[in-house]
Amino acid sequence: MGREARIKISDNSIDIQLPDKKLTLNRISLPENFLQWQSAARLKLFDILKEHGTETVKMQPAHLPVVATLGDGPFSINLASRGIGPLPKNEILEKFTKLFNKTRSEIGNHGWQETLSHRMKAAKQFYKDPKNFDTSMLGGLEIFEGKTAHNLAHYPLASILYTGEAPSFHSYQLNGVVTFINEKDPYYRFLLAARELFAFDTFHVRQVRYPYGYLFHIVELVDKTPYPRKYRKGFE
Ligand SMILES: Cc1cc2nc3c(=O)[nH]c(=O)nc-3n(C[C@H](O)[C@H](O)[C@H](O)COP(=O)(O)O)c2cc1C
Repeated sequence: MGREARIKISDNSIDIQLPDKKLTLNRISLPENFLQWQSAARLKLFDILKEHGTETVKMQPAHLPVVATLGDGPFSINLASRGIGPLPKNEILEKFTKLFNKTRSEIGNHGWQETLSHRMKAAKQFYKDPKNFDTSMLGGLEIFEGKTAHNLAHYPLASILYTGEAPSFHSYQLNGVVTFINEKDPYYRFLLAARELFAFDTFHVRQVRYPYGYLFHIVELVDKTPYPRKYRKGFE
């Protein structure tokens, strides 16, 4: 994959050797309100699926942030919508990957519609409790290998912006360091298993190949939920 930056991740910090500079960034834990929102939004999604079926799901704001990466040229910021979500804590990662793969294989020749509740039951076991979530990173899968992937290979810092639904409009900007993971990586296997559980439902565009995945190591969270800011005064 020809990565230009060298990244060393420790428990509390990340060292990055970029072509022109060295950075050390401190890692943070995702706050409770973000983790709770991630869990609640998935549970709400499952309720909608159960009540009204897969056709009714048009967007999943808690799963589809906009990702900003840095490249070259006058418009050096690149934006793209991406599926990025929670990962299990390391000690339960294998357990949920196995559960999702087992559930997927149990579908066999049964239809996707008739197995929806079985698949949701498995997914719920992970998403229902924010305590299951790794608080230091999120993950996603690459599909198209476009500008986002290119930029991250050269400059592995990215910002992502989640925008939730009315009436609360939870919104968060997360800044972090991105590392690539391949199909042998246990986190890639989890992301693939989670995706494959709902691969043929209408709210997913069917994909056959995910060349690699990403771990998004969080170094900053900015709450962008709409409410008055104190520095607004300066503009009056
Ligand atoms: C709702 C939605 C979800 C998407 N999810 C992903 C995804 O999980 N992974 C991915 O590689 N591309 C995903 N895409 C495609 C990217 O938004 C984008 O088209 C792709 O990365 C190419 O743009 P780029 O050259 O800026 O990277 C998604 C697009 C939309 C509209």
